[in-house]
Amino acid sequence: MEFEYKEVPEKDKLAVFELIDLVISSLDDPSCFIPYEDWEYERMFDKSYAYLHGAYVDGKLVGIAQLYVEEKMLTDARKMLKLYDCKLAELGGNLVDPKYRHYGITTTLIRLQIDLAKRLGFECVVAYTHPENKAMNRVLAKLGMKYIDHSIICDIYPRNCYLLTNSI
Ligand SMILES: CC(C)(COP(=O)(O)OP(=O)(O)OC[C@H]1O[C@@H](n2cnc3c(N)ncnc32)[C@H](O)[C@@H]1OP(=O)(O)O)[C@@H](O)C(=O)NCCC(=O)NCCS
Repeated sequence: MEFEYKEVPEKDKLAVFELIDLVISSLDDPSCFIPYEDWEYERMFDKSYAYLHGAYVDGKLVGIAQLYVEEKMLTDARKMLKLYDCKLAELGGNLVDPKYRHYGITTTLIRLQIDLAKRLGFECVVAYTHPENKAMNRVLAKLGMKYIDHSIICDIYPRNCYLLTNSI
């Protein structure tokens, strides 16, 4: 199958929201994805907050990923990792239409975002995933991210924490 990978333009906002609804409503374990809050939908295309990339098949959006760059989003990660000096970004918002999983979409989107982080001058990239989310743990490890620790996020979400440092 042929996929096109690109930054998602704002005109595809509805497709983004529909994809989020589809994936969240079909999760086997809802705790695998921390639901978006209203302000996150509003800032979906605001690059001072996050870069949004997508995978398309014949013009249809089938997967997304975000690279969070806003410093205030990274306070908890900095505390947990004791990383106060490096320029840090966070990967997240990884969602793929169930019909298009296991084709390497998330692997490609995250690779693209790590390259972007590097071009933007970031020195470290952090990512979190549910300990039982086998696909996401696999993707992060496969991309060379190092498992750091396990913690509880937002009081209720168990998460593995991965970090990519100087090599980015
Ligand atoms: C997690 C998710 C984004 C992965 O997307 P994807 O495009 O299918 O991922 P990829 O195809 O790039 O890679 C998946 C990898 O996990 C592996 N994998 C998938 N399911 C697996 C399982 N049950 N056990 C072990 N490995 C598994 C695949 O084999 C592949 O590894 P490989 O390339 O070495 O073979 C997708 O499953 C999804 O949308 N899940 C629901 C939302 C979610 O949990 N998001 C992540 C929040 S942190």
